[in-house]
This record gives sequence, C-alpha cells and structure tokens, in this order.
Amino acid sequence: MPTRDQLLALNDELRRLKAGGQRAVSVSEEGLAQLREAVTASRSGFMPDRPAEIASAATVSGAKPDLQMLAAARPAAPAMPATPEIKLPEGDKPARWNFLRNLVLNDATCQARVYPGKQVVFGVGNLDAAVMFVGEAPGGDEEDQGEPFVGRAGQLLNKMIKAMGLERGQVYIGNILNWRPDMGTRNADGSQTGNRPPTAQEMAYCLPFIRAQIAIIRPRVLVALGKTAVDGLLGPDRFKSMGAARGSWHSYADTPLRASYHPSYLLRQEGLTSAAAKKIKRDAWEDMLAVMERAELPVSEKQRNYFL
Ligand code: URA
Repeated sequence: MPTRDQLLALNDELRRLKAGGQRAVSVSEEGLAQLREAVTASRSGFMPDRPAEIASAATVSGAKPDLQMLAAARPAAPAMPATPEIKLPEGDKPARWNFLRNLVLNDATCQARVYPGKQVVFGVGNLDAAVMFVGEAPGGDEEDQGEPFVGRAGQLLNKMIKAMGLERGQVYIGNILNWRPDMGTRNADGSQTGNRPPTAQEMAYCLPFIRAQIAIIRPRVLVALGKTAVDGLLGPDRFKSMGAARGSWHSYADTPLRASYHPSYLLRQEGLTSAAAKKIKRDAWEDMLAVMERAELPVSEKQRNYFL
C-alpha cells in the first residue's frame, strides 16, 4: 500500500499533469487496487498523521485500463509567515510598480496558497489614476485570468466606472488579498464552489502589498468596496457594519477614502424591487457621485439622476 508521502507525491504529480491539460492517466488493475486500499485506509483513519485532504484525495471511477484523473483536494498550506516588509526601489512609478508586481506574483506564500493551475492576482490599471478601487479577494474568474474584478462583480464595477464617465483603464483596481481564499476542497476540474472572506492572518500577510500599491499610485480618492476592504485599510475595529462606514469621508495615509458596498452585494440586490434594495443601489451610486466630486471629475445632471 502506498505511504502517506507517496500518496501526496502522486497527488502533486496528478495536479501538475492536470494543470498542463492532461485529463486522464492509465492505471493498472493492481495499481488501482492499491490506491483504493490506501484511500479506504485514509478515509477510515488508519493512515498515521493522515492530513484531512487525503480523505478526499482520490475519486476513481471504473476499473478500466484508462481511468479518470484522480480529483485531488489541496494539501494544507504551510502556516502563514510573518507579514513581509516591502522596500520599494527608487525610480518612477512604472519601475516601482513592476518591482512590486514581480515580488507579489513570485511570493512563495502567495504561490503556496494558489490552487495549482490558478494565478496570484495583482492590481491593474492606470498608475496615474485619480480613483483607486480596493476589493476583497479574487474569485474564480480572477484566479483563472490573474486579474481583479473580471467576473460578474467586475462587470458591475465596469458599469459603475463607465457611469462615472471613466474607462476601466483610467482607474486602478486592487484587492486586499492576492489569492482566492481556499474553502478546503475543489471540484474535479479545479473550480471551487463558493467563496469565503479572508482570515485576519491572510489579510495581515497581504496588506503590505495593497498598501505599497496605494503608495505608488497615490490616487486622489480611494474607494473601499465592502467590509473586508474597509477593515483592511481603516482597521478591523473602526466600523461595525458597512452602514456605519459609508456615507462620510475617511482618510487612509492622507488619502480621502470612501467606503461603498461591494459589487457582489449589489448583484444580490439585482431584480429586487423592495424599497431596501432600491436604497442600497441608490446609496452605492451616491457614493460614486461623492467620489467623482472629490476626485474633481465632472458630474453632469444626467449622472446625478442615474440609478444603478
Ligand atoms: N471580488 C473582489 O473583491 N475582488 C475581485 O477581484 C473579484 C471579486
């Protein structure tokens, strides 16, 4: 029967093959029997120091010579190390931003938390942006494409940016976290069902990365989208709720900061006709109007009357 280490190595190799596009591997009847035995042993707890992920390490279908790729759950990531200290080099914005981007994309802790085949996600946009949006963490589309806010929430954010009279390429968009928070299990195709907010430790690790992006961009206005961004930039104990955080100006490192609802939350109001849902959408747009004024962007009458 394979040992725990051999199973983990097999797990890694299968995920590597899968990330490279391979969908099936051949396993002999004897090999399959041994794997089944090992998986059964791990499920019933007979394997010493069995990590939780081994319990769901393999899904084997059919005793045929060509078997479906084993769908593997992720081994537990190593403990979160201390918050990294970032020393940005001298130079212009592009040089400093490229340095930081390389640092984050190649950061061993970020890499260890990203599911195989998925990507670490760094901020995008105009380095001279007047407005910088900060979200929570990448979701499925973002970890696939390596860019923040490219899924459904991103489409809504794009729509809001457009309604502000801007293009996506004129603003800067980043996240508090640079990887998609792991729920512990993945589907056979590597996708994850659901999202969870980042833990305090995850946020503490990544905060220097978004802080450094803000220090490079130096936007006129920061927009914290949702409670995680508010907590990350203003401190976890400042506001009890989004209701308490939004509607007035705050300051992050001498930059005016407006808190607004996360686009995913706004998406959940779509199609709802209750007065409460309408108010949430109107409030979000009023946040954007306030941002436009503070960033000294023109605001037309049509924009004032716009409704998300
Ligand atoms: N939600 C976020 O907070 N950030 C993204 O990049 C996508 C969805």
